[in-house]
Amino acid sequence: MKTYLAKFLTTAVTVGVVLGIAAAELKPRRPATQAFMRNKLVYSQTILEGMALEKYDLVSKNAIRLRDMTTSNLWFTVKQPDYLLQSTNYQKSVDALYMAAVDKNLERVTEAYVTVARSCVDCHRLVRLEQRRAAAGAK
Ligand code: HEC
Repeated sequence: MKTYLAKFLTTAVTVGVVLGIAAAELKPRRPATQAFMRNKLVYSQTILEGMALEKYDLVSKNAIRLRDMTTSNLWFTVKQPDYLLQSTNYQKSVDALYMAAVDKNLERVTEAYVTVARSCVDCHRLVRLEQRRAAAGAK
């Protein structure tokens, strides 16, 4: 149990750092999009709280919130084919997280959370690339 807890804490800290990095350096074009997008941070931090305290309903509820966001118009401000691919991967990872929470399986929840965090990072990397391309084209 001790080693599991240690593993969990290491994962939690890593993921926290990764989420911080994911959020950094994206320059939102519109305040409405920014406010909307920032909700992901609140929901994913609440999921981390749910994991830490084994409150599976916190995990599942906020996984649903993350998932619902991806069907909003505000989600699709980036017009790029790879953005759709990133969105699909992300949706799958959030679905896996939800199902693990419903099954009350902490190990799977933890693993799914790491996959979700990776999706955040991957998509943001693409978005930043697009922003740089757009900026270069605008000159
Ligand atoms: C499929 C793509 C995609 C995924 C996955 C994604 N994001 Fe984003 N995120 C965006 C886009 C696009 C923006 C807005 C950038 C813009 O407006 O130019 C954004 C913006 C944000 C912002 C606001 C940044 C700011 O400047 O205030 C935060 C915070 C954020 N995302 C966190 C997350 C977290 C946490 C996750 C994972 C749980 C995540 N995102 C997953 C595409 C994504």
